[in-house]
This record gives sequence, structure tokens and C-alpha cells, in this order.
Amino acid sequence: MLHCVTLENPEAVVHEAAKRILHLVATAQEAKRDFHFVLSGGTTPKRLYRILADANISWDHVHFFWGDERCVHLDHTDSNYKMAHDTFLSKINVSASHVHRLQGEIAPPLSAHNYEKTIQAIVGLSHFVGHDKQCPYTGIPSFDLVLLGMGADGHTASLFPETEALKAKTWVVANFVPKLSGYRLTLTPILLNQAANIFFLVTGSDKAKILQAVLEGPKNTDLLPSQLIHGETGNVTWIIDKAASACLGMIHDKQRT
Ligand code: 6PG
Repeated sequence: MLHCVTLENPEAVVHEAAKRILHLVATAQEAKRDFHFVLSGGTTPKRLYRILADANISWDHVHFFWGDERCVHLDHTDSNYKMAHDTFLSKINVSASHVHRLQGEIAPPLSAHNYEKTIQAIVGLSHFVGHDKQCPYTGIPSFDLVLLGMGADGHTASLFPETEALKAKTWVVANFVPKLSGYRLTLTPILLNQAANIFFLVTGSDKAKILQAVLEGPKNTDLLPSQLIHGETGNVTWIIDKAASACLGMIHDKQRT
């Protein structure tokens, strides 16, 4: 099920996303179960993370993961871990044992392998009241929430057009990206699509044409990898601003700011 919610501007988008995230986190806490939250990189989430950091809630039951990472040291300015740490995780009370970063500083294939083991250990085999974290019919761990952005080329996480990761049968891969002349670490569609909730945050007029192609154009997943994320078991919600929605023809939920 795909939902598309359009807000007035980027600030309204991140506030809507924060509202929805905090609701999901609180629901898990009330049900006395852990919450497995996959963070995104990029610039759009920075403001969102600052809003979440200011929320007066307990994050004790939340485990944080990343959807992708650059192959850099954790204190490199390009690190997605560093961005989330500086804007969010360093400002909340969270145990280091609940922060599961992709190791950008080691050999990419080894990092991908290690991360699959971490995900299996934390998400796949966890025991929860009323929520089977290992999808019974697929054997693939199911995150509670995956946060994603979308690049102007239609990529999401580090699933770039015409790269090997798009067809990967594993959960985490070291993806060589020719246009970046280097590797990126990324969760794959097989794993991402098992999440109970997937939120895409897309803002800005520079994303309008590609968003229309992804949401309303013909299926072309090799060139539009964001089309690979459709959510096997849960909802995909596109939280976008008016500028990004400019080329969309579909009737979608409009929300006033
Ligand atoms: C990254 C992200 C990437 C990002 C998109 C959109 O590591 O950069 O995983 O997929 O979400 O490129 O980025 P913006 O939010 O900056 O537009």
C-alpha cells in the first residue's frame, strides 16, 4: 500500500515525519517491545533528527540502524553515522549497544557481512510480545521503520541506477557505484521491503520530475531504483512537499500545513 502525503514546505515535511515516527515509537513502547529504526543519510533528515532529539520521550527500547553508509571513517564529514550522531543520537539518552552502525572504515564486503550478522542477531531473533520480528513466511528480519530519501537520479539508500545492488539476493551489500568511483554500503530491496513501515522524505523542485517518473511512470527499476521499494508487508508513505509534488498527476492525500 502506497501513501503520498503532500505538505507545504520542507519544514512541514520533517514535522509530519517526526509526528509519525514518535507515534510508532510510543506504540512500541506501550506494547513493551523493541523498535528497530533504520536511519537515512543525506541532507533532508538533518532537520528531522534535530526535531526528534528535542522530543521528550524515552528511546530506551529503540535500536538504531543505517540504510546505507559511505566507505569512510565514522568521524569523516561524509559519514551518515556521524550526521545522525551529531544531529540526534548524541543528544538523546541511548545506549551504545542500541546503536548499530555500518562500519565504513573496514573492507566493504566484510562490513556488509558483519552487518547482516548484526541485523540477524538484533532484529531477526529478538523475542517480542505480539510482533514476530522474523517474517514467518520469508525468514527475513523486519524492521519497524525504514527512513529513506531519494536522489535526483532516482536512487535511494545507496541503490544507484544500474548497479549490482539492485539485484542482490543478500540483505546488505558493498555496492560499487561507477559515478562515485567507489563503493557504498547499502541495505538491499529484499531486506528493506520487509519493513513494517517505510517513510520516503522528498522535498524540493529538483526532485519533481524524477518523483513523477518513480511514482507514476512506467516500471524501470534499473534506472529508477526507488521503484524497487514497495513494501512487501507494510506501508510505504511518501512524505513530500509541494515543490516535489509539482509534476504529480495522481490524487494523493493533501495535508494543510
Ligand atoms: C545518502 C542517502 C541517500 C539520500 C538521497 C537524498 O547516503 O546520501 O542514503 O540515499 O537519502 O541522496 O538525499 P537528500 O535528502 O540530501 O536529498
